[in-house]
Order: sequence, then structure tokens, then C-alpha cells
Amino acid sequence: MSQLKPISHLDNIPSTPGKFKMDKSPYIHRLRWHSSLAKLTFWSFLFLGLILLFFFRSPPPSSPSDSSRRSLSNSNWGGPAWEKRVRSSARVRARNGLSVLVTGAAGFVGTHVSAALKRRGDGVLGVDNFNDYYDPSLKRARQALLERTGVFVVEGDINDSALLRKLFDVVAFTHVMHLAAQAGVRYAMQNPGSYVHSNIAGLVNVLEVCKSANPQPAVVWASSSSVYGLNSKVPFSEEDRTDQPASLYAATKKAGEEIAHTYNHIYGLSITGLRFFTVYGPWGRPDMAYFFFTRDILKGKQIQIFEAPNHGTVARDFTYIDDIVKGCLAALDTAEKSTGRGGKKKGPAQLRVFNLGNTSPVPVTELVSILERLLKVKANRLMLKMPRNGDVQFTHANISLAQRELGYKPTTDLQTGLKKFVRWYLSYYSSSGKKSAS
Ligand SMILES: NC(=O)c1ccc[n+]([C@@H]2O[C@H](COP(=O)([O-])OP(=O)(O)OC[C@H]3O[C@@H](n4cnc5c(N)ncnc54)[C@H](O)[C@@H]3O)[C@@H](O)[C@H]2O)c1
Repeated sequence: MSQLKPISHLDNIPSTPGKFKMDKSPYIHRLRWHSSLAKLTFWSFLFLGLILLFFFRSPPPSSPSDSSRRSLSNSNWGGPAWEKRVRSSARVRARNGLSVLVTGAAGFVGTHVSAALKRRGDGVLGVDNFNDYYDPSLKRARQALLERTGVFVVEGDINDSALLRKLFDVVAFTHVMHLAAQAGVRYAMQNPGSYVHSNIAGLVNVLEVCKSANPQPAVVWASSSSVYGLNSKVPFSEEDRTDQPASLYAATKKAGEEIAHTYNHIYGLSITGLRFFTVYGPWGRPDMAYFFFTRDILKGKQIQIFEAPNHGTVARDFTYIDDIVKGCLAALDTAEKSTGRGGKKKGPAQLRVFNLGNTSPVPVTELVSILERLLKVKANRLMLKMPRNGDVQFTHANISLAQRELGYKPTTDLQTGLKKFVRWYLSYYSSSGKKSAS
């Protein structure tokens, strides 16, 4: 109670200092006031200290939900049997094959890239935290698919340095294909922390472990076309400005490109960033429009299609997964060795950024028409003005640099690619008795 007194006393101080009137016992009052103020300060500091202690001791927001945070603490890796699995998965079978650590291996792109590497005889080991940003059972199904091809996906978070260091102790990876990230543009408004956790802190952790590894691996990682943000010059080429991101997702990818520059500059890591343009295909991501349009058209649910101001077209440079995989493998194959050792740079190292797109943007309305024809169901369309939620109106890749340096040449048009996606979707959600994507 005594602590409250000075506050009420202070409340009585007139706003104009000159008008402040002393009461009858100013000395006693001041004394009591000072000791109470000291107590208040003491308790405030103690309280503040406890809050700080709580924040520094508690883990950062790991991923979309608590369940994935739980997966962080349950480190169920290690032991001779586990190490044997890791070694066997990463064993190179082809002459001059690579030994690749793939992060985000249970993700859409990660699964396809891992399977393709394994098919040609490279050693592959996956890492994924199986978070529930979208249906984890789809990630588990992809894991099972990889398991059948001989790829072991370790369950763990890229922020777990002990795990990553252990993996490098067991296998001298020549390359890291870093695909783990918090994807999605709109979700960034709901859960910004998950983007910082995976796309900034996670990337730094991966690069920290890579720079300390002996030998250092070459790193290829997924940036995004979203770094072009509000850039209106089309097609987007690598020299265009990327300082106007339209979403936090884009900002974290742009930050990733700058972080990559730093690790290349200081530690001699060979790093290649790939700016993917709207990747689609079988085993795709349920949060992407082509995927949930398919689900909703089949369910007879209304689908919302955004249009730009004045009925302007919203279009995307949709890129089929097999073309992206070819680009990823070419980036790995052409990556030069890192030049550092023992955490120190020994010479200049390669630093590259490439667009991987299809160079033929298609209006979203056309995407819906193709799906209607493939599904033989008319969509219930609702045209809406594009909200300011991080989406951009148009993406279009200039791929001449990737063509020149990687021999990248996309070959699948949207109609052909969607046909393969729809075939997969129908068989995955019907024959296997799985519930349709929610
Ligand atoms: N699919 C696209 O259209 C597209 C476009 C541009 C860029 N990208 C980028 O390509 C990469 C792969 O995308 P995708 O479409 O396969 O997404 P995805 O969400 O299917 O795959 C990412 C995987 O990373 C895992 N992951 C996330 N945070 C992790 C963490 N902290 N530790 C360990 N694992 C973690 C997730 O569980 C997921 O399985 C991402 O970096 C994404 O930002 C994708």
C-alpha cells in the first residue's frame, strides 16, 4: 500500500510546476516519498529482470504451431543405428557423384530434388522439422516415398546446430541444398515469427555450420521471385532492383541473399541462390492457388480470384516442378568448391543468383479454365479486388542467365503440367482413402 502513496501524491502535482504548493510537513513527506520510490524502482527492476530472464530462456517461435515446437525439444537423433542410416543414405554410388544434405526434404521441392539426386547415384540425406504449416501427413507421405528410394529424412530443425554439426561429423557433405523455409506470402501476416525463425535464423545457422565444416560444402539455396516485389519492369532479371518487398516473406528472402553475400565474402563459402517462380506439380503445396482451387472446384465450393485495379490481370510465371529440379541439379553440378578452411577464407569464392521460371506468365483466370477442363467441373468463381496481403500482380522471369550458365531450359507448359498434377491429386486423395486437402 505504501508504494501506492507516492503515486497518488504525484497525481496531485499540478501540471504547472510554479503552482505547486508545499503542504505542512514537506520534509517527512519527501523522505517517505523517496523510500517508497526506491522500493518501487527495486520491484520494477526485479519484475523487468524476471521478464527478460523468461524471454532469454524460452525458445524462439520455431514454426507454425506448438506441435512443431515440441518436435524441436524431442531430439530423437543419434546413436550407432541412426548414424548407420545417415551414412547409408548419404553414400555416393555414381562416379564423381555428389554427397548432398537437403534441408526441407519432406517439402514439395525438397522431395523432388532428393529423389532426382538419388536416382542419378548421388548420396542424399534429408532434414525436415515436419511442421504443420500445411497438412503434415502429406509431408509424411513424401518422407515414405523418399524412404522407398533410399533417402533418409532426419526429423529436426535447421536451428539445431548440434544436429547439423553431428550430420557433418558423420558425413563430409560436398553440397548443401538448402530448401527448408517458411513459405507462403499471406501467412506472414499471421505468424511473422515463423519466417524470422526459419528464413533468417535458420539460414544463418545452416551457413554457420557450413562455414565451420571441414571441408566446407558448396551451398545452393532457394530464394524466391518474390524478392522483385513492387518492381514493375518485366521480365524480371537478376540485375533488377529487389529493395521493395511486398511481404515479410519476400523481405526474409531478400535478407537471405544479403546474408549469403556476407558468408561468401567473409568465409569463402560458395553460394548459389535460386529465385523460383511459382512452382507447381504433383506432391505440391496445399497452400498454393492451383492446389486449393482444384480441391474447391471438386467440392463445388466458391473460389476467389483476385484482379488488379481496373479489372487488371493477375498473372504468374507458373513453373513445373521437373523444370525446377533440373535447374537445382544444374546449380549443384556447376557450383564451384568453397574456398575457406577452419572458418577462414582462403580465396574468393563463387556467389551466384539465378531466376528459375518458365518465362511465360499465365493469367490466374486461365489457370482456372485449364483446371475446369481437366476436372470436367465448372468453377464457381468470385472475382475480388486484390487485397494488400503481400501478393503481387504479375511475375515474369527473364531466364537468360540460367540458360547461359546452367543450361536451364524449361519444357513444360501449364496445360501439360496441370494435367500431371490433377492426375496425381485424384489418385492421392481418392485411391489411398486420404481425406481431401483441407
Ligand atoms: N514452391 C514455390 O512456388 C516456391 C517459390 C519460391 C521459392 N520457394 C522456396 O523454395 C523452398 C521450398 O519450397 P516448397 O514449395 O517445397 O515449400 P515446402 O513448405 O513444401 O517445403 C519446405 C520444407 O521445409 C520444412 N521446414 C520449414 N522450416 C523448417 C525448419 N526450421 N527446420 C527444418 N525444416 C523446416 C517444412 O517442414 C517443409 O517440409 C522454400 O525455401 C521456399 O521458400 C518455393
